Amino acid sequence: MLDEPAGQRQVPVDFGLEEGGLLVHGTGASGKTTLLRTLAVSLALSTPPDALNIYGFDFATRGLRSLEALPHCGGIVAGDELDRAVRLISMLRGEVERRKGLLAATGAAKLSEYLTTPGAERLPHVLVLLDGTAAFLSTFENIDVGAHLDTMRMLVAEGRSVGICFVLSADRSAGYLAASIARRVIMRMATDDDYGMLGLPRHVYAGAHMPPGRAFTEKGLELQCATVGSDPQGSAQAAEAARLGDELRQRYGPVRVPQIRLLPAEVRRSSLPPPRNPLEAVVGLEDHSLQPVRIALDEGHFLIAGPRRSGRTTALATFALSLAAAPGAVPLHLLSPRRQTPLAGLGVWTSVALGVDGCGEATTKLADAAREAPDQAATCVIVIDDGEDLTDGSLMDLDWIAQRGRDMGMRVVAALETQAAQRAFATWLQQVQRDRQGLLLDPDPTLDGALIGVQLPRRSGGRWPTGRCYVARRGIVELVQVAGD
Ligand SMILES: Nc1ncnc2c1ncn2[C@@H]1O[C@H](COP(=O)(O)OP(=O)(O)OP(=O)(O)O)[C@@H](O)[C@H]1O
Ligand SMILES: [Mg+2]
Repeated sequence: MLDEPAGQRQVPVDFGLEEGGLLVHGTGASGKTTLLRTLAVSLALSTPPDALNIYGFDFATRGLRSLEALPHCGGIVAGDELDRAVRLISMLRGEVERRKGLLAATGAAKLSEYLTTPGAERLPHVLVLLDGTAAFLSTFENIDVGAHLDTMRMLVAEGRSVGICFVLSADRSAGYLAASIARRVIMRMATDDDYGMLGLPRHVYAGAHMPPGRAFTEKGLELQCATVGSDPQGSAQAAEAARLGDELRQRYGPVRVPQIRLLPAEVRRSSLPPPRNPLEAVVGLEDHSLQPVRIALDEGHFLIAGPRRSGRTTALATFALSLAAAPGAVPLHLLSPRRQTPLAGLGVWTSVALGVDGCGEATTKLADAAREAPDQAATCVIVIDDGEDLTDGSLMDLDWIAQRGRDMGMRVVAALETQAAQRAFATWLQQVQRDRQGLLLDPDPTLDGALIGVQLPRRSGGRWPTGRCYVARRGIVELVQVAGD
């Protein structure tokens, strides 16, 4: 409710999503989180989920989490969920860019205008809540030299015209992020000076009674914010949000609001699509798009490196099984200097060589066959596990295959232990490295990129699950989860 002294009346306040963001100031327990929640719920009550999507960064008291009950909600990120927070920021950035393109193509200046053009995509308004701006700022200013904060500031500024609206709460100034937000609500502040700093004239706040939920607008009008249901306690508010969520789900039926999804710690081979051509392998999911990763061996050889038990053998199995499932699959040959290997039993091989000597004999046979009939299609893939055991320089035929055989369509996919690979010298290995395609499991970003001539990004997010890796090709590095059984 808004108190309009000039008109001697009280009117309900509407929050127009198209009028830009809102900044909510207030000291501890002044009612900021409650206001954010009320705003979200009241918009949800009046707007169906295909016209309004809600996301939240919950960096204060975890009071936004209950909004996940709303069918409109694509996810609320808690302050300690850094990966999800970064994912939400990049999702929003992608969406802002996409919408800018759509609007530009029709010449629309804002979302409502775009939605009236014939054939327009039915883009929902997006409401993004950030509770605890100070904690958000201090969390992100030390990560990647504040890059995520730069992105957030851009989103707050540019989101408005494309229907992505930010509501931020802050105890005092929200400085960096708030520059482009004109609308403000000022709740109880710790000191009178704080009101002054936020631009309120003294006669407005001097001696004002400020119970929780009482606030001023930036124009100095007085406001009492509603709560979700009649009980202002957190648990009652959550219960009420859950009840409303159920009711709204019934009212609106099934809806698809894009969720904040993370790269899973495990991907099953059976969940990946088959390859589209003979030298393609689908090996896992890529972090940014969460789409399958398709490795093209027609571009050259491929190196897999990782420490012990990092999942090299499993990655080779994934490669081989996928190559074997390709339309017009090429012959696959296994070289395993170790006699015991789970790869031998995969049932995809044209030939299997076990032990160092066996590998030597097999490479001679393969090279001889290719030399004898160079014009016959020699396209095949030679899969090598524990390749560090084949680097004493004696395998001239493997050197020949990696060098000359390559021109005939022979490809090598080789897995090596990382440190051994860094020390190893063998012509065939150099040839494989020269194609600069590879998969680096559990890498040391400062050292291991050199194996395939790429610069790796810094790692964040603690320990990686088994099978997490960087995949590099054509100079581009992606974070990938390799599929396992
Ligand atoms: N992509 C993956 N997803 C899930 N689990 C995996 C994945 N890769 C490997 N693992 C598990 O991790 C363990 C080690 O895997 P693997 O044998 O492939 O590693 P390696 O690097 O070849 O080890 P080694 O040093 O013994 O040769 C296995 O128990 C395997 O099931
Ligand atoms: Mg192994």
